[in-house]
Amino acid sequence: MTDALDLAIVGCGGMGTRHMYGVKELAGLVEGGLGDVPAFRLAALCDRDARHRGILADLAEREMGHRPQTYESLEVLLDAHPDLAAVDVTTDTRPHHTLALQALQAGKHVQVEKPMALTVTACNRMMDAAAAARRVLAVAENYRRDPLIRLVRALLEAGAIGEPWMAVDASIGGAGRMIITPWRHKKAYGNSVLDVGVHNVDLLLYEVGPIDQVFAQVALFDRIRHRAEGASNISAFYAATAASAPDVVEADVEDTAFATLRFARGMLGQWTLSASGHGQGFGKKAIYGSRGSLEPGAPRSGNGPRLYLDGRREPASDDELLALVPDFAVDEGTARLFGGERLTRYSFDYPAIDRKITATVLMDFARAIATGRPPEVGGVEGRHAVAVCNGLFEASRLNRPVSIAAVERAEPEVSQWQRELDVELGLVA
Ligand SMILES: NC(=O)c1ccc[n+]([C@@H]2O[C@H](COP(=O)([O-])OP(=O)(O)OC[C@H]3O[C@@H](n4cnc5c(N)ncnc54)[C@H](O)[C@@H]3O)[C@@H](O)[C@H]2O)c1
Repeated sequence: MTDALDLAIVGCGGMGTRHMYGVKELAGLVEGGLGDVPAFRLAALCDRDARHRGILADLAEREMGHRPQTYESLEVLLDAHPDLAAVDVTTDTRPHHTLALQALQAGKHVQVEKPMALTVTACNRMMDAAAAARRVLAVAENYRRDPLIRLVRALLEAGAIGEPWMAVDASIGGAGRMIITPWRHKKAYGNSVLDVGVHNVDLLLYEVGPIDQVFAQVALFDRIRHRAEGASNISAFYAATAASAPDVVEADVEDTAFATLRFARGMLGQWTLSASGHGQGFGKKAIYGSRGSLEPGAPRSGNGPRLYLDGRREPASDDELLALVPDFAVDEGTARLFGGERLTRYSFDYPAIDRKITATVLMDFARAIATGRPPEVGGVEGRHAVAVCNGLFEASRLNRPVSIAAVERAEPEVSQWQRELDVELGLVA
């Protein structure tokens, strides 16, 4: 078995906590041997907030039997751990690029949570730094790793709906509540269209390929956001950050986008995303092709895809789905975590699903480090998702469609909305 790699988690809020559980889950999986995949050993934690890092260190000690060392700054952490192999950045989005650059320049492999960074220029700097340092740069995009999303792609590739022509993706909700944390409503730290939207874009990228043009109108309707009452699937992970969150935050950035998408393969898409929806929430995603439509189940729900073929009223059965993809099988690690190579559904409680999926994200990062094989979601994929989401703001400001390739190159004409951030972040003069 390959030796475990020393890892530091930077950012001890909700996602840092979830990554700690993922590290533990991966260690359990690798114990029985998993080809060329090493485990991670959580050597250190960093958070600028002493309470947050203390809470996660206590939890890690209880869960894993050893207490990671804790630091206020990444600089001090890197000096104290010369043998560290990798840094896992789980802070809010604003400092992703600064921390990634610091770690890469110190010769560490880096994984950052999604969104890869606040702007495309920041993503480009990270990609350049990873190439110069010859180190892995991975983006911890988790939704595509769900074994049932793997099945969605296999079905589309096998031509289950014929040639894909159109995609519709809509999610509306929010009802005046804060979207998890206050920073998701502040432009300088992120916004809900970017924060949630990168998942939608990455799923589309994985399922049907890249988007080459977007047009959109964006808006902010619900300025005053109140702390959500009651428990959600993920509130248990936010014990540290929720305690210090204000009851109310005033949003300064749009949280609603109505967009049309054109895909490189010629498909068209319609995408609606809003955190200003009151009353009955709305969510629907469907991919339409020349002989049927496919509705992926929500990632991490355990629900598989529904395939509707022309001339049939009922969706295809599980057996019919699998018969369409005779060669489909998820990788060994995912199969062991979820209990099968060819699943059409699964049932675990939410924390178990979350740590299994986080373990698959970390598994890919560990394999990339050990083998030199690129991570599944690297700079190119992470930047694409940021470019499409930020492209909605650019298109809305210009009141015309924008080319995603031009946004990815940070061409000034299509970088006006992002420029304000780039100046503030010190990325451009
Ligand atoms: N993949 C997913 O499903 C998923 C879900 C939630 C969040 N996320 C992503 O994870 C990241 C973190 O989100 P969260 O909800 O956990 O946020 P959070 O506010 O709960 O936690 C962020 C933590 O980072 C710390 N921090 C901020 N700047 C720092 C710095 N410069 N150095 C050290 N520590 C610093 C904060 O003190 C805080 O403890 C975001 O990029 C978010 O988009 C991903």
